[in-house]
Amino acid sequence: MPDVLDLLERCHLPQDGVHACCATLLVAREAGRVIGCSALEIYGTVALLCSVAVDPASRSRGLGQALVLTQVKTSRRCGIQERYLLTETAPAFFQRLGFCLIERSAVAPAIYASVE
Ligand SMILES: CC(C)(COP(=O)(O)OP(=O)(O)OC[C@H]1O[C@@H](n2cnc3c(N)ncnc32)[C@H](O)[C@@H]1OP(=O)(O)O)[C@@H](O)C(=O)NCCC(=O)NCCS
Repeated sequence: MPDVLDLLERCHLPQDGVHACCATLLVAREAGRVIGCSALEIYGTVALLCSVAVDPASRSRGLGQALVLTQVKTSRRCGIQERYLLTETAPAFFQRLGFCLIERSAVAPAIYASVE
């Protein structure tokens, strides 16, 4: 967890919610170092994808895509029907992976429980 918090800080992402989703935290490691992460906050049958980050030195190698698509695949298998995320920095990145832009008012109400 300290390595994940450090990575989130270096990627300028909030650290608040990540402790609550330890069970879904996925990390990429290289030579013992955490170089990528992603997590899911689960609210019944919907979930919020959060803490998607890749170390700047390891970007553009497909890690970000793998960290997102693995969460999508695993959560589908576990019965999660909808996945949301909030991003101010990378909308085009997520659109390429199948996410689409929606109004905040269209978000499933359960997601409002999230700190994010
Ligand atoms: C977004 C992020 C996770 C992508 O990680 P990555 O390992 O470089 O991703 P991939 O290698 O799978 O994909 C790279 C592609 O995504 C594109 N991309 C990367 N960041 C992008 C962004 N912010 N907006 C749009 N496209 C982006 C790259 O241009 C690259 O495109 P190419 O393949 O045509 O060259 C990484 O840039 C990051 O950690 N950013 C800071 C944290 C952040 O903004 N997280 C998302 C918000 S929750």
